[in-house]
Amino acid sequence: MRILITGGAGFIGSHIVDACLAAGHTPAVVDDLSSGSPKNLPASVPLYQIDIRDRAALAKAFSEFQPEAVSHQAAQMSVSRSVRDPIFDAEVNVLGLVNVFDEASRVGAKRIVFASSGGVLYGDVYTPAPEETPANPISPYGISKWVGEKYLEFYARERGLTGVALRYANVYGPRQNPHGEAGVMAIFSQRLLAGEPATVNGDGKYDRDYVYGPDVARANLLALTQPLETHFLALNIGTGQRTDVNQLEQLVRQEATAIWQQGGQTGSPPEPKHGPARAGDLRSSIVDASLAATKLGWQPTVAFAEGVQRTVQWFAEHA
Ligand SMILES: NC(=O)c1ccc[n+]([C@@H]2O[C@H](COP(=O)([O-])OP(=O)(O)OC[C@H]3O[C@@H](n4cnc5c(N)ncnc54)[C@H](O)[C@@H]3O)[C@@H](O)[C@H]2O)c1
Repeated sequence: MRILITGGAGFIGSHIVDACLAAGHTPAVVDDLSSGSPKNLPASVPLYQIDIRDRAALAKAFSEFQPEAVSHQAAQMSVSRSVRDPIFDAEVNVLGLVNVFDEASRVGAKRIVFASSGGVLYGDVYTPAPEETPANPISPYGISKWVGEKYLEFYARERGLTGVALRYANVYGPRQNPHGEAGVMAIFSQRLLAGEPATVNGDGKYDRDYVYGPDVARANLLALTQPLETHFLALNIGTGQRTDVNQLEQLVRQEATAIWQQGGQTGSPPEPKHGPARAGDLRSSIVDASLAATKLGWQPTVAFAEGVQRTVQWFAEHA
């Protein structure tokens, strides 16, 4: 199948490219490289370096590649930027998204999968939240994910295609960008391996559901290719397990210490510093992914400790 992945040069998108190739599909990527990198992609995969806000360029790429299915990962993905600049957020995450969905339907793609977010839709939840949890997004980023799902439902209903919104929990793993404000594991890995302390916001008691990037890519592959009975589905993608930032920092530090020792370096990375709490940070965000098991046959396969080990190792090799 010809599968177009927007944001495919980024963290999750590039793992989706790998999953598509491994399953024998033909992927291509649309990405403006604002946070992604061609280094995340095999040279054989066509890369259209396009901003999804540029309708004409997007139309040209869709006409040329003629995707049968589209995985829409490209986004402005900073919650705080969305609060500072709601117009830019809406230009990329709403208008850019409509450009992508409209082009997909114009060229006759039969399936669109969209990267939504459980965390920003459900708010503070102390037990794993199912999909029926009322959506109450409070940031422009969260609002754009909710609106994106509604647009997908509209395109699916009106244009004879199937739409799947995957509501990710906190995704982590190799290739995550450590330079932004999201991606706490990537940021901690880089700092600790370099012998700098991690900064834990507030008391660090912020529970999150961490799901491994290649597992999320497999959920995308299934959502892109499996037969589905309904025109639109929203599915949580997470583990239902909680880890707070203090526990995460400790695990990353353990792995970084082991890597230092393997390299003959003595000592261990420093203890964390505590910074001020970040306004608006949820205390707890965990999703229930049992519907994805029923509808797609998807389950996470990489346990957290194993995923942390692989991630820190990757950052050590790519420092
Ligand atoms: N990482 C997470 O924990 C998480 C959680 C929930 C949802 N998501 C969603 O998953 C998707 C992928 O996130 P990621 O973590 O891989 O981030 P990422 O920054 O690594 O990937 C996003 C990609 O989109 C590209 N992009 C950004 N703006 C673009 C534009 N205007 N035109 C074309 N390309 C553009 C970037 O260059 C990048 O390659 C996003 O939609 C994000 O909102 C991620």
